[in-house]
Formats: sequence, structure tokens, C-alpha cells
Amino acid sequence: MNLQLNRTEFGDPKNAGTVLSETEALHLLEEWVPNERLHLHMKQVGGVLRAWALEREGLPAEEAHKWWLAGVLHDADWEKYPDQHCRVIIEELERRQVDPSVIRCIASHGPKYFGVEPESRMDKMIYVFDELSGFIHAAALIRPTRYEGMDVKSVVKKLKTPSFAAQVSRDDIQDALSRIDIPLEEIIGFILIHQPAIA
Ligand SMILES: [Fe+2]
Ligand SMILES: [Fe+2]
Repeated sequence: MNLQLNRTEFGDPKNAGTVLSETEALHLLEEWVPNERLHLHMKQVGGVLRAWALEREGLPAEEAHKWWLAGVLHDADWEKYPDQHCRVIIEELERRQVDPSVIRCIASHGPKYFGVEPESRMDKMIYVFDELSGFIHAAALIRPTRYEGMDVKSVVKKLKTPSFAAQVSRDDIQDALSRIDIPLEEIIGFILIHQPAIA
């Protein structure tokens, strides 16, 4: 399956600052993503990204909303158009004249697959959080107490167990981490704090 986007420009610079509201974005999600598990994954990535933007990047709420938007929509076309992922959602957001930084962020959530290198901080963080958020949720689901009492060490150990959640690419996680200056343990710790509240 070739998902390469073969483009480097996304959206129109004159749309900078235009976003979908929370209600509009969740409505799109409702329509495009009937699968509850995927739905939750996108809300988790969005929620963790927004929390990171606010707490760790010190960004104002309007900026953090863009991080949330990119996260919450990044896989919006995956269920209906897996062989055109993420081209369809990108074109939809371009049609809706959304801020180019949000569209570019979505396009860069899998550099190997889409051929778009993460550039901004938001681009780099979606790449980091996408796989790790999903991995941690998979790890929580097999525990009787779910997220409660889960610690960073046990997640690191599971990452080193190739048979656990084997579909999660350890190479992608390594590649994503190599582009930022934050250790794996810190990212895992951040997800463990914020993710349980996102339903
Ligand atoms: Fe994706
Ligand atoms: Fe994803």
C-alpha cells in the first residue's frame, strides 16, 4: 500500500488561524469514524497533545486547540479510506480552509508512510505521541485495574517485548524520539498522567 503524499505544501497560508471548533471536529469524528476504538485513539492523541502544548510548551489556549485538532483528526479517514490515509482528511481540511499548520501536522504523523518530514514542534510531537499513546492504551487494557497503578517501568519493559502489541512499530517510536530532546520515560510518564481521563 503506497500512502506517499508526494507533496510538501499543505493548506493555504492565508487560512492561518482558521480552525474547526471542538463541536465541529467531534461531529466530523462521529460521521467519519464509527469504530469506537479508533475514535478513542484519536481523542487520546488529541487530548495528550493539547495537554503537552499547554503544560510543556506553555502555549496559549488557541494554539493548544490546534494541537488538539490535529491529534483528534489525524486518523479520521483511516476507517473508510485505509488505502488513501491521510490524503482524504487532508483534502477535507483544505476544503474547509483550516490553518495550514494543523494540516501539515496531520500529514507528518508517519514520515515513512506519507513522505512528509515533521518540522514544527507540533509535527514532531504528534509523531511521538501517536504510537506511544496507542501502545500504552493496549497495555492498560490487559490489566485488571487498567491505568490504575501502571508505571513507566512496566511500559518500557513491554516495549522491549516484541510480541506485545506487535503491530506497534518500535522503529517508528525510536525514530520519533530521535527528533526531539525528551527521553522516552518522560513521554510515557506524561501519557500515564493525562490519558486515563480521556474517554
Ligand atoms: Fe495514522
Ligand atoms: Fe494514530
